[in-house]
Amino acid sequence: MRQAGRYLPEYRELRKNTGSFLNLCYSPRLAAEATLQPIKRFDFDAAIIFSDILVIPDALGQSVSFQEGIGPLLDSLTGFDDLKKLNQKKISDRLNPVYEAIQITREKLPEEKALIGFAGAPWTISTYMIEGGTSRDFLKTKSWAFSKPLEFSGLIDILVDAISEHLISQIEAGATTLQIFDSWAGMLPEQEFDQWCLKPIKKIVYCVKEKHPGIPIIVFPRLAGEGYIKIAEIEGVSAVSLDQTVSLNWAKKTLQSKVTVQGNLDPVYLLAGGKVMRDEIARILKAFSTGPFVFNLGHGVLPTTPLEHVSELCKFISDWPELDG
Ligand code: CP3
Repeated sequence: MRQAGRYLPEYRELRKNTGSFLNLCYSPRLAAEATLQPIKRFDFDAAIIFSDILVIPDALGQSVSFQEGIGPLLDSLTGFDDLKKLNQKKISDRLNPVYEAIQITREKLPEEKALIGFAGAPWTISTYMIEGGTSRDFLKTKSWAFSKPLEFSGLIDILVDAISEHLISQIEAGATTLQIFDSWAGMLPEQEFDQWCLKPIKKIVYCVKEKHPGIPIIVFPRLAGEGYIKIAEIEGVSAVSLDQTVSLNWAKKTLQSKVTVQGNLDPVYLLAGGKVMRDEIARILKAFSTGPFVFNLGHGVLPTTPLEHVSELCKFISDWPELDG
């Protein structure tokens, strides 16, 4: 979760000299360097390729930019006719630098470390494409999905194909694990969640596994509550990444018997550091470390997080007596 990011001085330095954020994502050597920075500093067990979920709308020909202090800005889709402007053919040309960055990273990354390739899920990406950026209420996207489901499924289908292709290409470039981010999965009522989160993710997992049956796939259906169970039950899903609102006991009983669980320290504990952080990490480790488990945050590292807190977290976890590696 945002391993390479503004909390790292070496990332801020790199970022200063690279112009736009997307330019950095599409510069293979620099993106590989950003990917490796947190591994060099903290020796994490896995690296996640430096890229973004919004390279998909960019590759489909939508205009995407990232504004300091605001976040992503897209030229929003306003109706069905706009779907015709999306160009699915150019996708792998535009995304080729991501695959090159994966190749370079794989060569430099110690063999025992996982390299995580990723993509956003169709629902989450569609919200950025329709709202034109980050939203509070997702009014435009939800209205479109609820009132014109046939039209909306046209967009979701385009995204299912593009995302599947992008994930497969990342495996072929050297990614050893995949993660699908459905960051806004929790914004939908149950039946709409089934339609716009669950079904498309199922299709993507099926499509990727058909070509690469051995690849582990992690899904992050953020804030999905009981929806986590349905995601964990998808055939081919190896792990679910838990946001910080998921109850540890519930997840242990309900999810960990089906899949590996990953998570779920609230990033604010990492920001706070010290005893409160250590106590919370201990609570998570006690709950999960007897079953299949990957320690992670419940969401991204906050930009003002002190580096010493991250070192303290790593040391606390590696010193934990009940971990068998
Ligand atoms: O963790 C990593 O470093 C791997 C690379 C990665 C980034 N974004 C780099 C990035 C990953 C896995 C993402 C995923 C992503 N991007 C998600 C899903 C996870 C989540 O956070 O829920 C989403 C929703 C996005 C879209 C996105 N990208 C937003 C909303 C923003 C702005 C955030 C902000 O705080 O301003 C970004 C920018 C972004 N993506 C940064 C990084 C390191 C910050 C860019 C910078 O200013 O240098």
